Amino acid sequence: MSKGQDRLSALMARGAAFLGAETAILAGAMSWVSERNLVAAVSNAGGFGVIACGAMTPALLDAEIAGTKALTDRPFGVNLITMHPDLIDLIDMCAKHGVGHVVLAGGLPPGGAIDRIKASGAKVICFAPAMALAKKLIRSGVDALVIEGMEAGGHIGPVSTSVLAQEMLPEIAGTLPVFVAGGIGRGEAIAGYLEMGAAGVQLGTRFVCAHESIAHPAFKKAFLRASARDAVASVQIDARLPVIPVRALKNASTELFTAKQREVAGSLDEGKVAMAEAQLQIEHYWAGALRRAVIDGDVENGSVMAGQSVGMVTKEEPTTEIIATLLSQAAAALESRAAF
Ligand SMILES: Cc1cc2nc3c(=O)[nH]c(=O)nc-3n(C[C@H](O)[C@H](O)[C@H](O)COP(=O)(O)O)c2cc1C
Repeated sequence: MSKGQDRLSALMARGAAFLGAETAILAGAMSWVSERNLVAAVSNAGGFGVIACGAMTPALLDAEIAGTKALTDRPFGVNLITMHPDLIDLIDMCAKHGVGHVVLAGGLPPGGAIDRIKASGAKVICFAPAMALAKKLIRSGVDALVIEGMEAGGHIGPVSTSVLAQEMLPEIAGTLPVFVAGGIGRGEAIAGYLEMGAAGVQLGTRFVCAHESIAHPAFKKAFLRASARDAVASVQIDARLPVIPVRALKNASTELFTAKQREVAGSLDEGKVAMAEAQLQIEHYWAGALRRAVIDGDVENGSVMAGQSVGMVTKEEPTTEIIATLLSQAAAALESRAAF
């Protein structure tokens, strides 16, 4: 082993042990994309795959976990959205299968969710977009945190990964494992965040064009053609309808989303819908739009969620290659830094 590889293994040891994987590279759950094939491929390649439950029913999640287990003996996780109406049943489904890691996304977990997961023996991973929230989650007993910057694909917060990493790693990385996400396209960045105290990293965009990803060929082609500046955040148009921004490739759906917000705001004006229902309609818009792009291949009218690292996705390749490339870039960076 080279000095760089040694250093990389040492820096990843804590995160890898936490995940039960060879490396501390998580493939973040991506709705419709992170199903059994990609998840198993990532875990088989030494990373840590995570099933995106999204809006799945407990029965569908049951089948997806079983399908993933048929493709890999290695550990993988399940990502659950906290506002899912059947959250407790989904947690119990993970427990039934002995899933070792549950990732809770989409806001503060409702009371009891963290304890219920922990009671099953699984570890709980949550997203912490700000320090105050991180501290609250740590007090609630989470086992690890993901800090994700606004460079990421999908739903995003307002702060960049580099700032979150500087603000949060020095304070919390000693308390529990912290994984850094958002905008990571190459191993040099992975080396940097590990040196800053991260236990590991989470990447989404970089895995979309893996051979094993079932994303429609048109969806992958859109990724291969795009550059960083094409991955833009959605814009909120009505102060009453808070929209969690979503980063996706610019296309006709960007305009459709504006039109959808106008329509929902109009219904609010006329008293046709209540606020909660209006906000739900906005969220449902994204779930449907992402499916249209990932599964049906309609990359104009669907939502092509992608992070700014999309410009570094230059070919379709096996998952093993993606992970091997990231690791060798990280090791080379650490080797050259060690030389001085
Ligand atoms: C197409 C797509 C769909 C995503 N869907 C989800 C999701 O359902 N749940 C979730 O927690 N994160 C989701 N994400 C975020 C990823 O899990 C991951 O945190 C993010 O992609 C990391 O940033 P990066 O894209 O810059 O690598 C999605 C990202 C993309 C690109």
